[in-house]
Amino acid sequence: MKLLLLSVGLTLVCAHHEEKHDVVTSNFDMSKISGEWHTILLASDVKEDIEELGSMRMFVESIQALDNSSLLLKYHKKSNGECAELTFVSEETEEEGIYSVFYEGYNEFHIVEADYNDYVIFYFLNYHNEKITQGMELYGRNPDVNPQIKKRFEELCKYHGIPEENVQDLTNADPCSQD
Ligand SMILES: *[C@@H]1O[C@H](CO)[C@@H](O)[C@H](O)[C@H]1NC(C)=O
Repeated sequence: MKLLLLSVGLTLVCAHHEEKHDVVTSNFDMSKISGEWHTILLASDVKEDIEELGSMRMFVESIQALDNSSLLLKYHKKSNGECAELTFVSEETEEEGIYSVFYEGYNEFHIVEADYNDYVIFYFLNYHNEKITQGMELYGRNPDVNPQIKKRFEELCKYHGIPEENVQDLTNADPCSQD
């Protein structure tokens, strides 16, 4: 009897595990985006922005969906040789699912694709000094993601006209990492 219960339990665990891999591409549930994240890949039209010393080279720590539909985003980055914390409150624009934040100009971003328990891909536009730059970000719940997801990200970048050489892998590049 005990064994039977155990096997039923295992089946449930497995079923639950498979359920975890649901890729969402629209109607995102922002509350499910909340929690800890790690920057995996960054891409930009302007490569220098995501290279060392680049303003967009940021390491995400967490995202929290607030009750008023704004997002609280926490990052750190190295600037002037020191690790600095960056906290943003991003408000939803009039368009559902599109968020805005002021940093190095004005930015609008939205989620392209997510598997809430595994990864999320953002697309953003930065408006700064009459210049528009587009970029993409891949965040993982863990410090790294499956290579297939990285490939998928590169394809999405290409689709938006961002070449592969403008994609940076930041999985082992955090200068502020404790380990
Ligand atoms: C939502 O709440 C946060 C934190 O209190 C605040 O900073 C932000 O401006 C609020 N957003 C809106 C749209 O009022």
